Amino acid sequence: MGFLSDRLARVKPSPTIAMTTRAAELRAAGRDIIGLSAGEPDFDTPAHIREAAKAAIDQGHTRYTAVDGTPSLKRAIAAKFARENGLDYAPAQVTVGTGGKQILYNALVATLNEGDEVVIPAPYWVSYPDMVLLAGGRPVIVECGIEDGFRLSPEALAAAITPRTKWLILNSPSNPSGAGYDRAQMQALTDVLLDHPQVWVLSDDIYEHLVFDGFDFVTPAQVEPRLKDRVLTMNGVSKAYAMTGWRIGYGAGPEMLIRAMAKLQSQSTSNPCSISQYAAEAALEGPQDYIADSRAVFQRRRDLVVAVLNECPGIACPTPQGAFYVYPSIAGLIGRSSAAGTRIDSDEAFANALLEETGVAVVFGAAFGLSPHFRISYATGDEQLAEAVARIRRFCEGCN
Ligand SMILES: Cc1ncc(COP(=O)(O)O)c(C=O)c1O
Repeated sequence: MGFLSDRLARVKPSPTIAMTTRAAELRAAGRDIIGLSAGEPDFDTPAHIREAAKAAIDQGHTRYTAVDGTPSLKRAIAAKFARENGLDYAPAQVTVGTGGKQILYNALVATLNEGDEVVIPAPYWVSYPDMVLLAGGRPVIVECGIEDGFRLSPEALAAAITPRTKWLILNSPSNPSGAGYDRAQMQALTDVLLDHPQVWVLSDDIYEHLVFDGFDFVTPAQVEPRLKDRVLTMNGVSKAYAMTGWRIGYGAGPEMLIRAMAKLQSQSTSNPCSISQYAAEAALEGPQDYIADSRAVFQRRRDLVVAVLNECPGIACPTPQGAFYVYPSIAGLIGRSSAAGTRIDSDEAFANALLEETGVAVVFGAAFGLSPHFRISYATGDEQLAEAVARIRRFCEGCN
């Protein structure tokens, strides 16, 4: 009998960490490396949020709080849902965790029994399938290719649902593709779900505010109120307010689920950091200009990256609706060789060759369940970004 659990053995080590480690090794060896693999805004947390955290420390808010969030933060979150999403949640239907990641994890561990199925459209955020496996469930991956705009179609959703399906995970705008569902596309999915009362929806709205060209963000519970009793709407302050390190995420849904998640949290981490909770409250209740400012910067960077990538021989890069990622196809490079002679027979080989030969670190598509692609995070300074895409172009031009 092994010491480590069987459950852990089902989970694979993160391929993104392997890439990041290799990039760090090359940097330590003196190479000029540009990292386009990190999923976090490169801005500082806005000043008024930092001040609120300092005030919280000085006012003595340094003790345990209620397990899944202070009453005042829960009220601020309920007000956010009403104001921005037209969703009416009572504070008792709101839960706060250490990042959106803990909210997802709590929901899955609190609900999945051995063999329960979770439908996950690919490309997906790397953590979804592994969290499902850790919770004892079975990820059911549905590939949503570039020709479908990386979006799940109602037909594909209907075909993936079985009597064992417990959750559908939706993420709009998406990490890694940046694809967002407009109201009609979302409604087409919620229409399917109305016919399958056993299926709940986990809506990961973490990139809600990072949408471009006036894209109108919608979330399932808002689009189809009849589904609200089986939707967990998840969000957080990490991406919207450049607060990745503060670790505050939240969810809202039926009280029965919220209570179950809080029970689990009470026996694992207890409350999220008290100081961060006060900072998150200031983020949600304070001035919102940061959001529009960062959105404008990201849209400019998206346009730069998409334009240059589409000039690269062998690469096709759709224009995403949101988030800060692009997910180009490298189908046109498969089977070719780089200038240094590396054969590109997979997106992993492409990403490795790009790193070794040009010093640009990206994440290969297989990590997100859809190949042959790669993900660029453009949450990096304009100059570095322009240099990185210029290097990618030279690399592609050198392939034969
Ligand atoms: C799609 C998606 N969901 C959730 C998260 C979790 O964010 P956090 O735990 O910082 O709130 C991330 C972070 O990268 C993400 O990309």
